[in-house]
Amino acid sequence: MPLLTDAMKQELQAEIDRSETRKAACIEAMQIVQRHLGWISDESLLEIADFLQMTPDELEGVATFYNHIYRKPVGKYVILICDSVCCWIMGYESLQEHIARTLGIRLGETTADGLFTLLPIQCLGACARAPAIMIRGELYTDLTPERFDEIIASYRREA
Ligand code: FES
Repeated sequence: MPLLTDAMKQELQAEIDRSETRKAACIEAMQIVQRHLGWISDESLLEIADFLQMTPDELEGVATFYNHIYRKPVGKYVILICDSVCCWIMGYESLQEHIARTLGIRLGETTADGLFTLLPIQCLGACARAPAIMIRGELYTDLTPERFDEIIASYRREA
């Protein structure tokens, strides 16, 4: 049974129409499908590649390179924690310890309730305000354990 619905295909087509070539829409196409299905499985990657007239290997190459595309199931909210030098200096490790204590997850893991996944990311561009995380495109900086708890509580209320 196909994973891409007619509605998704319409969104993909609209993205293709805005792009110079079908291939040029590939990141946005994967983001659209990911928004609907949560992650990009092998099956959906094949269908997207077919829709874009790309080979699965070509699309896989882009998906691997672009770290906002999830090739494994993730929680409802992905916490991207900056794993680069300024954040290392400004408390990355203690923040990670705090996350492990409060959410019970380490890098690459998802909470038992399926709400949060913790993934590393290279510099989020907020080095002067390290340490930093990003959730759903929202950047959070100057993080303290208390501030982290407030942020997580707000996502729990929204869930
Ligand atoms: S090093 Fe973390 S935001 Fe740049």
